[in-house]
Amino acid sequence: MKDTSPRTGLFPSQALATLVLWLSLPLYFLQATWLHGATRAPVWGQRGLVATVSPLASEAGATILRQGGNAADAAVAVGFALAVTWPAAGNLGGGGFALVRGQDGKSTFIDYRETAPAAADKNFYLDAKGEVIPGASTVGYRAVGTPGTVAGMAMLHKKYGKLPWKKVLEPARRLAIEGFVMDESFVSMLESNKERLEKFPGSRHIFLKDGKGFKAGDRLVQPELGWSITQIQRQGESAFYQGEIAQRLAKAIKKGGGVLTLDDLKNYKAVERAPLEGRFKNYQIITAPPPSSGGALILAMLGMLEKDDLEALGFGSAAYNHLLVETMKRAFADRAEWFGDPDFTQNPLQKFLAPDYLSKRRAGINLTKTTPSQDIKPGDFSDKESTETTHYTIVDAQGMIISNTYTLNGSFGSGATADGTGILLNNEMDDFSSKPGSPNMYGLLQGDRNAIAPKKRPLSSMTPTIVLEDGKPILALGSPGGPTIINSVFQVTLNTLVFGMNIQAAIDAPKFHHQWMPDRILSEPFGINPDTKKIMQSMGHNFGDRVFQFGDVQAVFYDKKRQQWSGGSDSRHGGSVAVE
Ligand code: DON
Repeated sequence: MKDTSPRTGLFPSQALATLVLWLSLPLYFLQATWLHGATRAPVWGQRGLVATVSPLASEAGATILRQGGNAADAAVAVGFALAVTWPAAGNLGGGGFALVRGQDGKSTFIDYRETAPAAADKNFYLDAKGEVIPGASTVGYRAVGTPGTVAGMAMLHKKYGKLPWKKVLEPARRLAIEGFVMDESFVSMLESNKERLEKFPGSRHIFLKDGKGFKAGDRLVQPELGWSITQIQRQGESAFYQGEIAQRLAKAIKKGGGVLTLDDLKNYKAVERAPLEGRFKNYQIITAPPPSSGGALILAMLGMLEKDDLEALGFGSAAYNHLLVETMKRAFADRAEWFGDPDFTQNPLQKFLAPDYLSKRRAGINLTKTTPSQDIKPGDFSDKESTETTHYTIVDAQGMIISNTYTLNGSFGSGATADGTGILLNNEMDDFSSKPGSPNMYGLLQGDRNAIAPKKRPLSSMTPTIVLEDGKPILALGSPGGPTIINSVFQVTLNTLVFGMNIQAAIDAPKFHHQWMPDRILSEPFGINPDTKKIMQSMGHNFGDRVFQFGDVQAVFYDKKRQQWSGGSDSRHGGSVAVE
């Protein structure tokens, strides 16, 4: 039957209902999009969450949670899975840090950073004239530090996991042997690292299809890596450090002109350390101790801002940006001078983090004018995209949290794989200062405390962090990006704690970076609007010529109102949050 009722007229009750609806709509949208920023919504979960850069790896972690595993089991599953599905940074041939917070409220830090081979010393990358040999610490077998990832994962599992080791490694084994379909971003990652991978026949074979190249939609099968994971699955970490894998690694490295030996592998040990702890306003911050510089810098920067009303300055305002940049410069200046492997050098943490020192540092900031970075040779920061390290964060239904950052250092590490293992090798040796005063590939200037010595760990910027409020965890996060890691973690932390952004918005909000030297601000695309930039320039700030994306934060955040965990993953890198 045809509807003949007038289109415009409404009965009073209908009119009232419509009016109420219209009046409440803005409220609804306001609440639904409140503090979202211009981005997608976070992922919410009633039980566990797994945030990683690779959806396949996130799913591997969530599968283990569903099978009754805890966050430590899932973290090990993800660690191995990323070695298969995110080979630019996921690894067995690299190293990293896992920050653990147990459901019992105890925190610990597993340091599985690579170590310098016994044959490497202070002058390892210098020529006869004492100059740094270009590329020696970044490309090929001589750049490789003794890998720590397998030992770190084994320690994490042994101390904190509950499912059998074999079961936890199974998703990664299957992904390697059965393969997975590569998407556009995976293939472009291979493409953009072609030059480096091409140099090494093993890597060329696996990742470039012997020069024929892959296209999106192709399947990547990695039988040799599958073999390595199977060995580790059956025999545990000794397969990697003493068994057939170790033999193959040592042989390939020797053949390629490197110095890492079977003994280096046999002697490698992951170390459990006490995390660094500090406070910011009402929050307790648990973060990475040396050999990371990241945790100390985060605490120092937050400490300098303890008394500032950042919210009143306003997110993105010139005054806010200025204050953060000046804080970064001061913290990074100390990094260059003071930090190194705590087993080899004393890190003056107490003095560096003393409230008196930090408030003096803060008092030195002129609120209307920048302080130029001085008194040290300028470095050259390479403006690169940051896909070379990767962070993942996991929370399980019982509240155990793992915040893990691991890396090969550069994208695909040294570019070299060890024949017959499918394992890409790191170039972590570049994180040492090859020559004090000479910048490394991130343009970082570093001192004697970070000089190469046998078995020493290079100084890192990796900053897995967990934040508590009233003794309960509310935020866990971390990022790749070399030195930009520290400032990514710093800004995302402030975005959530100070500005109340939800976790996805906090991650996706544009960031900026200053590392003292070189004296310039690097900002993300569309990150600082032209008016703000002009004001900042009038205060004396320099901006780098290029804007570029950095960081790839993977995080979880507890929403007290909803009494639920939410997860976020940098929306520019194709990562995802999987739900238990
Ligand atoms: O430990 C460090 O600080 C560096 N090796 C991290 C490298 C990194 O984040 C590369 N990713 N963009």
